[in-house]
Amino acid sequence: MDMEGDLFTFHLPTKILFGLGAVGNLGAELDERRLRSALVVTDIGVREAGLLARVEEQLRAYGIEYEVYDGVVPNPTVESIEAGLPLAVGKEALIALGGGSSIDTAKALNVLKAHGGRVLDWEGNETVPGPCGPLVAIPTTAGTGSEVTFIAQVSVPERRQKVPIVSRYLAPDLAIVDPELTRSLPPRLTAATGMDALAHAVEAATSIAAQPLADLLAFRAIELINEFLPRAVRNGADMEAREGMALASLLAGMAFNNGWVALAHAIAHALGGLYDLPHGLCCALALPEAMEFNLGARPEKYLKIARLLGEETAAAGVDRIRGLRRELGLPSRLGELGVEEADLNRIVGLALADGSILFNPREVTAEELRELICRML
Ligand SMILES: [Fe+2]
Repeated sequence: MDMEGDLFTFHLPTKILFGLGAVGNLGAELDERRLRSALVVTDIGVREAGLLARVEEQLRAYGIEYEVYDGVVPNPTVESIEAGLPLAVGKEALIALGGGSSIDTAKALNVLKAHGGRVLDWEGNETVPGPCGPLVAIPTTAGTGSEVTFIAQVSVPERRQKVPIVSRYLAPDLAIVDPELTRSLPPRLTAATGMDALAHAVEAATSIAAQPLADLLAFRAIELINEFLPRAVRNGADMEAREGMALASLLAGMAFNNGWVALAHAIAHALGGLYDLPHGLCCALALPEAMEFNLGARPEKYLKIARLLGEETAAAGVDRIRGLRRELGLPSRLGELGVEEADLNRIVGLALADGSILFNPREVTAEELRELICRML
């Protein structure tokens, strides 16, 4: 048996409600917990897509008082998070409705509401001293897995950096994963967020924190993504594909919350912080290069991943991911996203300082990282 070590832990404090129409249980779930007021944390796009109305319907039906903060921005900044605080104070529950940005914003708001201070006071690992209030996460994309993780990523524009807040107290109490809510997600966003989920699964299964339970989830997520991501991108109304991707994202989130992410995410965080680029796109670019760099450190795992992708060798598995990226119409070079060679040292420095790199199965020097990123330009 392929055990990574003698001891492992698996932590999943979040109750999960999954399935088409699951959002129709929101009111009853809040009612059961005797929660009488809530702040819905979302963005304008979600509101315009008519998804907020689905949540409001539930809150009204159960007589739950609510307000809406729709000021969430992609790569949520300290400022955009703190702007929601006056609305959050005094509400019994927070409801995050949206992609990773909305969920991460609500997680950070929940910390501020419970423990005070400013967002950056809570930067880093296990700085949050105790439980926050009830938080419900309702994802409208299939990729981040943030509905079940302990992490919120915050952008600090003055530092051109993304920093994490990591604490088990950030985990939502309830995740309502309703694939129906991803039906109107445009193809490019579907593709990019799906590649984020793939990066979570591949990295969780190959990091130094990899463990049997996380592997199980990660491997299944990889199979689902390989089968359903192209279909979901081609036809957003293919609900079997949407369901497959919503499940894959959830499984990959559970996997990386316990098995962690590694080099591809360290690079993606550096690029996202410096250029304010969508996280999924950065992952799609970094993942194959990071895998290629790591192949020798985890040969049996990369072979297994390749087989799940329908290939016979580890190297062919990496190429399959490059092929998938092309098939989905995503960029394959950093230059297409406006990343410049002049920033190379900065990207390398930020990636080396990112916590994810500590979990990489192969140690990375600055010189190796510079070469790797050069190949992505
Ligand atoms: Fe990610």
